[in-house]
Amino acid sequence: MIVFSGGIFRDLVTTTQRFPKPGETLFGCDFFMGFGGKSSNQAVMCRKLGADVAMVGKLGDDDHGKAYRQNYQDLGINTDHLGTESGCSSGIASIFVNTESGENQIIIVAGANAKMGSADILSAEPLMKSAKFVVCALEMNMAAIKASLGQSGSPIHVPIESVNEVVDTTGAGDAFVGALAFFLQRFPQLDLGDVIHRACSIASLSVCKSGTQASYPNQSEIPREVLTLK
Ligand code: RIB
Ligand code: NA
Repeated sequence: MIVFSGGIFRDLVTTTQRFPKPGETLFGCDFFMGFGGKSSNQAVMCRKLGADVAMVGKLGDDDHGKAYRQNYQDLGINTDHLGTESGCSSGIASIFVNTESGENQIIIVAGANAKMGSADILSAEPLMKSAKFVVCALEMNMAAIKASLGQSGSPIHVPIESVNEVVDTTGAGDAFVGALAFFLQRFPQLDLGDVIHRACSIASLSVCKSGTQASYPNQSEIPREVLTLK
């Protein structure tokens, strides 16, 4: 089991040929909603690769929260420690994606994510202690993040092939982290450079498609050598 603890957001995405200047009104190209939030994106990528995954966090008691809980159920993600905060909206991410560069601008409103407290983490402690890895992201209450643990390490550099046709980079870093956790668990014998290279290959696939979780590849779309040992 790999446990993810952190932000859960409903992504409200507008695509645009360029970003607006202050005070400017623009016609955008397209609008869609998706499931996002950095920690939650990581959990979904990891689950899509085939790991047993649990999500620890909070939704609001609104339609976004209901839709999001269903998303976890459809994907087979453990929601035993996914709370619903009454009288509170779910986390919302307003996202602009530039159709020329694939870059984004994001404003998040924490909603229920801010109601995550140390007590919520404590109640998930038995699950976290039984997990192979616990992956924490920001976007929630700092006390809750601190209660979930972490150490400092040393940097390594891994060269990666560049992507020619970038469509939307939103959530690519999260795809990387989710895939990293998956490979660390599945192939503990690999060195960190190899694991990072594989996780980057998966994140690179996500930037070629629009959306956040919607752009994450299924196992059948990932080159075989990325998912297997040589
Ligand atoms: O990293 C991408 C994510 O950042 C989006 O899904 C959005 O929800 C924000 O949290
Ligand atoms: Na994408």
